[in-house]
Amino acid sequence: MIFEILTIFPSMFSSPLAEGMVGKACDRGLIEIRVHNIRDFAADRHHMTDDRPFGGGEGMVMKPEPIVGALRAIQASGPAARSILLTPRGRMFDQETARQLSLLPRLVLICGRYEGVDERVEQYFTDDQISIGDYVLTGGELAAMVVVDSVSRLLPGVLGNEGSALEDSFSRPVLEHPQYTRPRDFEGLSVPPVLLCGNHETIRRWRRGQALHRTRTRRPDLFARLDLSPEDRKLLEDSNFGDR
Ligand code: ADE
Repeated sequence: MIFEILTIFPSMFSSPLAEGMVGKACDRGLIEIRVHNIRDFAADRHHMTDDRPFGGGEGMVMKPEPIVGALRAIQASGPAARSILLTPRGRMFDQETARQLSLLPRLVLICGRYEGVDERVEQYFTDDQISIGDYVLTGGELAAMVVVDSVSRLLPGVLGNEGSALEDSFSRPVLEHPQYTRPRDFEGLSVPPVLLCGNHETIRRWRRGQALHRTRTRRPDLFARLDLSPEDRKLLEDSNFGDR
């Protein structure tokens, strides 16, 4: 899959996307991340990418010409690509959106800055607008990295263990159960004995109970949408979850 990123801060992307699973996926040719500097598409001699808002007001607005110029150059360079503007005014990004995007051959991510992007870009030149949460970042760059990371790990071969992406929180709508590793005792805090018992069925039930309890306490919105089985209800009733 090819990610085409439009930004005025290309160097922000070099290190974060070169590390870990995403970095490995690039090295192995499973994904390609192309970072384009919007400034290179500004035609005026000062390479201006922003200007004052019509109607007055604080801040600067990103000009349409450089962004649309970059979009046209990208569209001309290969198969049709879906273009997404990262903006706090977009629809909320979630695992289902990541899954849908992972099916595309090529994706353009436009990182907005300043007070926003000229409305005509959003309306006429992008297919979608995405927000990664109800908070305002200084720009769409970190949001674009979130999208690249979460979409990449769903692509075949990227995680190595194909089961992992399917197993994790939100692929199924419960939060993941707690995980422990060595040492058995860390500063007096011990691993729950059930995980050492060796009985897979007992462990499976304990994990399911923990996952349900965690979802109920931390994400009541997700819990309300769950279709609980008779076993799930029993696990929630019978288990002692302590005070956490
Ligand atoms: N740009 C600024 N804030 C953002 C957010 N929450 N999501 C996506 N892009 C953004």
